[in-house]
Amino acid sequence: MGSDSLGPMTAMKALVLIGGFGTRLRPVTYTIPKQLIPIAGKPMLYHVLDLLPPDLEEAVLATGYKSAEIAAYVAAHPPRVPVRCVPEAEPLGTGGGMKNAGADMSDPFICMNSDVIAELDIHAVLETNRRKAGVGTMTLARVEDTSPYGVAALDADDRITRFVEKPRPEVAPSHWINAGLSVWRRSVLDGIPPGRPVSFETEVMPSLLERGTYGFRLGGFWEDAGTPARLLRAQQLLFDGGRGGSGALPVGATGRGPVATGTGVSARGATFGPYVTLGAGVTVEAGAHIENSVVMDGAIIGAGAHVAGSIVGPSARIAAGQRLDQAIVAEEGNG
Ligand code: GDD
Ligand code: MG
Repeated sequence: MGSDSLGPMTAMKALVLIGGFGTRLRPVTYTIPKQLIPIAGKPMLYHVLDLLPPDLEEAVLATGYKSAEIAAYVAAHPPRVPVRCVPEAEPLGTGGGMKNAGADMSDPFICMNSDVIAELDIHAVLETNRRKAGVGTMTLARVEDTSPYGVAALDADDRITRFVEKPRPEVAPSHWINAGLSVWRRSVLDGIPPGRPVSFETEVMPSLLERGTYGFRLGGFWEDAGTPARLLRAQQLLFDGGRGGSGALPVGATGRGPVATGTGVSARGATFGPYVTLGAGVTVEAGAHIENSVVMDGAIIGAGAHVAGSIVGPSARIAAGQRLDQAIVAEEGNG
């Protein structure tokens, strides 16, 4: 077996958390779950699945809000690893979602949030987890503002000694935050109470620190795409990291890429700045300009409109000459 294969761990499974209402991305998330918002040419969820080992046995998608939309999308667009959806009737939180969907996990298994983009070597994470032989390994990203995240304190051996979810800046123990991808022994699931909402970060983590949880410090880019500004920043990082396809301008358009262009886009006479995703069937009329934005399937950008730093939802229509700056808009009638 090659040194870069998973060796005896080829039966690895992953659990992907896809609940949550995406409140910070409303009104677009009234109609589609945030994980299906495209960035750098494909839904956020598919960039997340790209991080998993290609020979993964399956990724179990722990869905909640808009679970039917996610099931339909993955059925129509099969990801590069096999996926299976396990919906929850009521939101169970991160720990509750793991318990509900984790009945058939491998030992160990990969657990990940579905709204983070990252540059990481999953085999290096799995190898560290095997070597440290604790109950699990949490990847950590270094950020300046730790307040929206879970923050870890580490000892000299990178064992996590303390974990605080969303601390006030003055009490944050470090700048190393939970990057949203971890590896756990299957037994971790046994410690989660069934049938009720459980926060993995606050209710489960304390006991896992006692059992030995290690940090794996990421070196590459990382972003949580859960707010409009961070979603667009994630898109930029993906494009700059070469994960947004060719980035060529649509036919008949001018300006600067990268632009990820879906099928059936019409954009003759439009201009582009960098970092744009255009979904399938988008129309950008002559003289319109778009930069640093996401325009979803079927949207129409009117002649001469100017769209910057914005997210335009499916089938939304931006009037001729309108200026959109750092806006998030959905089709009228959906919020
Ligand atoms: N199945 C299920 N059920 N999934 C859920 C639920 C639920 O009730 N609630 C949230 N999720 C999913 C979200 O879809 C997301 O993928 C993940 O769990 C984390 O939820 P977020 O709402 O995005 O949490 P956060 O960004 O505030 O904080 C989390 O992620 C940070 C990194 O981005 C925490 O894990 C932090 O510790 C971490 O630093
Ligand atoms: Mg998040």
